[in-house]
Amino acid sequence: MTSFDDISAVREALLARYDTLETKADILKAPELKALFGKIPSLPAEERGEFGQAINQLSSELKDKVAASTIEAEQLAPIDVTAPMDVNTTRPQTLPSAQGSTHPLMQEIERLSEIFQRMGFVIEDSREIDDQYHMFETLNFPKGHPARDDYDTFMTVERDADGEPLIAPAHTSTMQNRVLKKYREVLEAGDAIAAVVPDRVFRNEDLDARHEHTFYQVEGIYVAKGVHAGMLIATLQKFLEEYYGQKLDVRVNPFYFPFTEPSFEFALSCPFCEQKGCSVCSHEGWIELLGCGMIHPNVLRAADIDPNVYTGFAFGCGVDRLVMMKHGIEDVRHFESAKLDFLRQF
Ligand code: PHE
Repeated sequence: MTSFDDISAVREALLARYDTLETKADILKAPELKALFGKIPSLPAEERGEFGQAINQLSSELKDKVAASTIEAEQLAPIDVTAPMDVNTTRPQTLPSAQGSTHPLMQEIERLSEIFQRMGFVIEDSREIDDQYHMFETLNFPKGHPARDDYDTFMTVERDADGEPLIAPAHTSTMQNRVLKKYREVLEAGDAIAAVVPDRVFRNEDLDARHEHTFYQVEGIYVAKGVHAGMLIATLQKFLEEYYGQKLDVRVNPFYFPFTEPSFEFALSCPFCEQKGCSVCSHEGWIELLGCGMIHPNVLRAADIDPNVYTGFAFGCGVDRLVMMKHGIEDVRHFESAKLDFLRQF
């Protein structure tokens, strides 16, 4: 056996061992490799050069293998970009937007806005954060007014310029002052202010079939010369009959709001129990639909409108209840539930 046969035997043994090693660099410390180098001095002088070169070659082959293996280990695992499912199979059961539909409340807000527009009202938006000045002060609830507590108003930790917590509007009446100011010059030009504000409101109250913390109201504001309560009742009756497409049983009772004088409450007879009493109408046979009245002189004054020259009416109608009665929906909480079996019915 020549010395070169030794080298090729060692090479084979080391390559086989290399595959089994966890720490690949250990192969460079193999005793066989050391022994080969140790053999050099015992060789005849003329063989030493070639033999030495052959061991060097083996040693650098092993070094290259070790170097390549560390690069491999440092590289990140490739990401498989092929689709995780067969794209030619039937589509997964998600809800593409084309199959979605407009929320029943939004559909009805569109309808009622159209009716009011045909009656000559403009449509305005409310806000989702407002201040106490618009929620109370401009509506004739001075500070400390007991009726402020009736509104279960959500407040934020942030405060406005007066140092008062900001609020989530508990009624769309927060827009009365802004609408009156915005359209004041219409009055001076001899026309009427006629606007409705359909939007979202919030109250911190106990939830049941008729009460939800988030709901919708439509505010109505009408101001001109010589406006009286008969016009208010006629406007509401006309609107409701148009909306339901039928003659209606309504009840008008005196009520109290700081921002209207006189104030009334409008109720419709409960369509669920034919006035026998049920959970929807709290066993009263009637469902309160809206509050209304003649705009208080102080509210007109807060918008720089002279109450000796102009009078007006306002109303605030619960949209959710209007829609519940239209479609026979027994629980107001369905609207915010995001349940598809409910939403798909509209
Ligand atoms: N803002 C009142 C409420 O939510 C309703 C209302 C509006 C009453 C306008 C009178 C005039 O209770």
